[in-house]
Amino acid sequence: MKLLTLSRFKNLKGKRVLLRVDFNIPLGNGKIGPEEDHKLRASLETVSHLLTQGARVIIVSHLGRPKEGDPELTLKPIVSRFSKLLGKKIAFIDDCLDEEGAVEKKLAKLKDGQAAALENIRYYYGEEDNDVFFSRRLASFADIYVNDAFAVSHRDAASVVGVAKLLPAAAGLLLEKEVQALSRLLEKPKRPMVALMSGMKISSKLPTLKKMLAVADKVMIAGGLGVGCYAAKGYETGLIPISAEDRQLAKEILKKKNLMIPSDVVVTKHPVGKGAVRVTPVDGIKKDEEVMDIGPETIRRYAAEIKSAQTIVWNGPVGHFEVKTFSHGTMALGTLIAARSKGKAFGVVGGGETVAALAQTKMSEWMDHISTGGGAMLEFLAGKVLPGLKPLLKK
Ligand code: 3PG
Repeated sequence: MKLLTLSRFKNLKGKRVLLRVDFNIPLGNGKIGPEEDHKLRASLETVSHLLTQGARVIIVSHLGRPKEGDPELTLKPIVSRFSKLLGKKIAFIDDCLDEEGAVEKKLAKLKDGQAAALENIRYYYGEEDNDVFFSRRLASFADIYVNDAFAVSHRDAASVVGVAKLLPAAAGLLLEKEVQALSRLLEKPKRPMVALMSGMKISSKLPTLKKMLAVADKVMIAGGLGVGCYAAKGYETGLIPISAEDRQLAKEILKKKNLMIPSDVVVTKHPVGKGAVRVTPVDGIKKDEEVMDIGPETIRRYAAEIKSAQTIVWNGPVGHFEVKTFSHGTMALGTLIAARSKGKAFGVVGGGETVAALAQTKMSEWMDHISTGGGAMLEFLAGKVLPGLKPLLKK
C-alpha cells in the first residue's frame, strides 16, 4: 500500500494544516498517566515536525462516543497533557463549530509554528455522519489536511474521510509507520510467523482470525475465542456463555491445521481473584467455574512457537491480567514476545488492553511496533482498505 506522505508538501511555512489525530484515550479517574498516554506520545512526532516546518496546525480529535455534547468528554485535559508532552502551548478552541465566525477568528490569530486544538469533534452530528457540509466547514479552516489518526481510520467520518477529499491530503508520520509495520505482517512476512489472538467472541474477531489463519504459520488463540472452541468440541464451558453462532464458527475454524487452542486453563468460582483457583485440562471445566487464564502447559506450548518465530503479532490479553492471580499467561507470553522482538523477530502488538498489558511487563520499548489501533488494526489485518486510507492512496 503506497500512501501520499508529508514529503508531497515542499513548503509548509505559513500553511494552515488540519491535522486529524486520535486522542481517544481512557481517562482513568481523571488522571492521564503513562499507561494512558501512549496515543498522545505517538502523535508527538508529526505535530513537532509540522510546527518546526512553520505550519499553523489545527489539531482535531474525538474522545469517546458523546451523546448530546456530554461535557465529561471534553478534550481540554487531554490537550493540556499533550501540550506538556510537546513542550509548547496549544490554544484550545471550545467555541461551537455550529456558529459561524468564532472559530475562524481564533484560528486567524495562529502564527507560523503555532498550534490550536478544536473541542471533541464528535460533539457535532456532522462528524460521524460524514456530512458534506460539515466536512466543507472543516476544510475551510485549512490549506492542507493530514491524517495521523490510524486508530480511527476505519470510521467513515467527516474529519477522517470527508475533509481528506476536499483538501490536498497526506498521511502523517505515525499513520505512515502504522501502515508500514502492519503491511509487513500481511505482505511476505519472515517465517515462521505466529499470531496470538484473544478476545470475547469469535464472531467479533472472525475476519481477522480468518486472515491470520491464511497468512500465519500458527495462530494461537485464548480467552473467549478458546472457550468457543471448547463448546464446539462439546465440552462444558462454565460461566462463559457461548452463542450458537460462535459455536458454529468455532467448528469451522477448528478445521484449520495451523490453529492452536489452549490445552489447559485456570478456572475459579471467584472471578475477583480472592477464592480458590485450579488448573484443569480444557475438557474438565465445571458448570460453576469461569475460565480466567491459560494454564502452564498452554503457556509452554505457545512460548515454544513464539521462540521459533521470526514474525509475531499479538492482539488480546490471554487472561484477566488486571487481577494478579490471572495475569501469568499474559505476562509470560507478553514478556517473551517483547524479548524476541527488535532482533530475533519482528514483533507487533496492538489493541488498548493489550498495550496496557504489555506496559505491565515494563518491556514496551522492546517491541518493534505498538499499534495505536484497536478496531482499526483488526480491520487492517483482516485485509480491508480502511476508509480513511483510501483518499491517501497514491494513484
Ligand atoms: C479507538 O480508540 O479504537 C478509536 O479511537 C476509535 O474509537 P471508536 O471505536 O469510538 O470509533
